[in-house]
Amino acid sequence: MNVKHLIDLETLTTGELMEVIELANAIKADPSAYAECCRGKILATLFYEPSTRTQMSFKTAMLRLGGSVIGFDNPQNSSVSKGESLKDTITVVGGYADIIAIRHSMEGTAKAASLYSAAPVINAGDGGHLHPTQTLTDVVTLYHEKGTLDNMCIGLCGDLKNGRTVHSLIKTMSHFKGNRFVLISTPELTVPQYVKDVMNASGCRYSEAASLAEAMPMLDVLYMTRIQRERFKSLEEYEKQKGVFVLDREKMQLAKPDMKILHPLPRVDEITEEVDYDSRAKYFEQTVYGMYARMALIMKMLENADRKPLPRQFDTHPCRCSNPNCITSTEAYLPKLFRPLGGDMLLCQYCEGRSLI
Ligand code: NCD
Repeated sequence: MNVKHLIDLETLTTGELMEVIELANAIKADPSAYAECCRGKILATLFYEPSTRTQMSFKTAMLRLGGSVIGFDNPQNSSVSKGESLKDTITVVGGYADIIAIRHSMEGTAKAASLYSAAPVINAGDGGHLHPTQTLTDVVTLYHEKGTLDNMCIGLCGDLKNGRTVHSLIKTMSHFKGNRFVLISTPELTVPQYVKDVMNASGCRYSEAASLAEAMPMLDVLYMTRIQRERFKSLEEYEKQKGVFVLDREKMQLAKPDMKILHPLPRVDEITEEVDYDSRAKYFEQTVYGMYARMALIMKMLENADRKPLPRQFDTHPCRCSNPNCITSTEAYLPKLFRPLGGDMLLCQYCEGRSLI
């Protein structure tokens, strides 16, 4: 695998992604054959934001490969509570660990961490932006369940604006042949522009639907998500959005017999409990695929990890990112990195937000 850090799954070629998926399948088939693969290696999990599955599956993955784990899941118990910057924490942990998984509420944090880490950094979720290892989990699940990653009609339902798993999944699936997306959300919670840009650039068809019932009959996959309460400015705004889309037994009657339901979890109220017993519900199996997916990813990333000296200085742009949730707004020393989009538009290389020059 030709990347040092995994910030966005899009940086892997389709061939590299398929190699990780195949390795995850091989591990799933015979886990004991991989039990010593990371003996002597250390994973650091730096979780600045709550997590059950991602954190525990990363830890389990490393332990099942024979490696060890350090880290924190509550930054209040680390020197972050004393005001330590991300740069300083990462510089230090990058010297202790062989590989780092980081989750943070600010968008672009994993990218920022990668600038200062001698060890490979994996993005375990950066605010409402991306979540590449959930997508790896999703594609390992789909490949296993469907036997292909091509020619699917994928419905995505719920909080498509703030749901980082949705953004990563669309980005990745739009690189496979013949996929089309049905975006099922309220107008307020539709996908951000950078996700639309990816679908448009890849020529993927997509449509928007205002109800689950109308979309249901055409879907091969339904990806449900919760409304991301923690990303709303006020409880009132959240209350207006919650409970709009609920998948229940009645709606499942409209679905194809081989449709698969995925959900990154946690579920709140968007899937009723009765649906758990429908054989098309794959969201609990998905969590197990996620552990094998992370085992495969850790192995591949450690295979070619280098410890080349890090650049001391970066070219910084005079503009600031206009996204208030971008990590550059709280960690002021970060170099401002943009890609010109034409006209007076710039694309922030941390959070993918657009800013005017
Ligand atoms: C997701 C996340 O954290 O983005 N959960 C996960 O990692 N499995 C989805 C969510 O929190 O809704």
